[in-house]
Amino acid sequence: MTLEITPMGAALGAVVSGLDLSQKLAAETVERLRNAWLEHIVLVYHGQDLSDPQLLDFTRYFGELEYPPSKLLNYSQGSGQKDDIPLEINVISNVIENGKKIGQLGNAEAKWHTDTPFVERPPAASILHAWELPPSGGNTCFMNMYAVLEALPAELLAKIDGKKCKHDVSHTSDGVLRHDYDDSPDAKSCPGPWHPMIRTHPDSGRKALYLGKRAWAYIEGTTTEENEEILDAIWAIAERPEFVYEHVWTQGDVLMWDNRCAMHRRDEFDGSQRRIMHRSQLRGDIPV
Ligand code: SIN
Repeated sequence: MTLEITPMGAALGAVVSGLDLSQKLAAETVERLRNAWLEHIVLVYHGQDLSDPQLLDFTRYFGELEYPPSKLLNYSQGSGQKDDIPLEINVISNVIENGKKIGQLGNAEAKWHTDTPFVERPPAASILHAWELPPSGGNTCFMNMYAVLEALPAELLAKIDGKKCKHDVSHTSDGVLRHDYDDSPDAKSCPGPWHPMIRTHPDSGRKALYLGKRAWAYIEGTTTEENEEILDAIWAIAERPEFVYEHVWTQGDVLMWDNRCAMHRRDEFDGSQRRIMHRSQLRGDIPV
């Protein structure tokens, strides 16, 4: 098999072919994959069949493993995941077995977000493996945050340059209050870490816009009205189709994306259908 990396011809993304990720990878192969990931932001590997330990072994080629959000947040109620799933694996699924959800997120749309921006060191990468898919729906879209930053007009840029944004930890990306948190009256008073709005990617050295989720985000030093106005203006540009790649999943796909310069969202799908994804993550740096 010959390793090939084919750009999607979209705002981001490339398909990697000629690799079986369950096998040991040579150092030069890993280096090519790392460079391709930094360049294309999203890498797609079709037709893989990985156990959880194999997915974690593949992830370790690129750095240290990170734990899923429920563990990072120390939820009193735990993640609800089955005991035989490794701690570093996060099951994303709508499936209910014996009256219990086997994973996180349901079948509703997951709105645009970056993964886990509500901790001091958000993950550098997420790697999602498609175990079971509905016949249609549940596509995942990715947004190129280098390109969005470049597209911001100067007057909008001036309003966020050098500013930090507070990334609310108390609500999920869909606005649902998490266990263990009290509701806040407004975005300004929500709990959560501050991250720069424009961050420098630690590996590529490039600048990217860093947004967590639209709701409950708060830009330092702004009134509620200014905050909403600036964020609305930014999001209106970010959501333009020219910055987005939409992935239509096939069984066995493995997708690796750079969480430091990409956002993603997932379409809804028919809730009577099963969708099971297993996700690993790579430890990241404190955004600067
Ligand atoms: C996620 O938001 O990380 C999950 C994306 C997906 O289920 O496709």
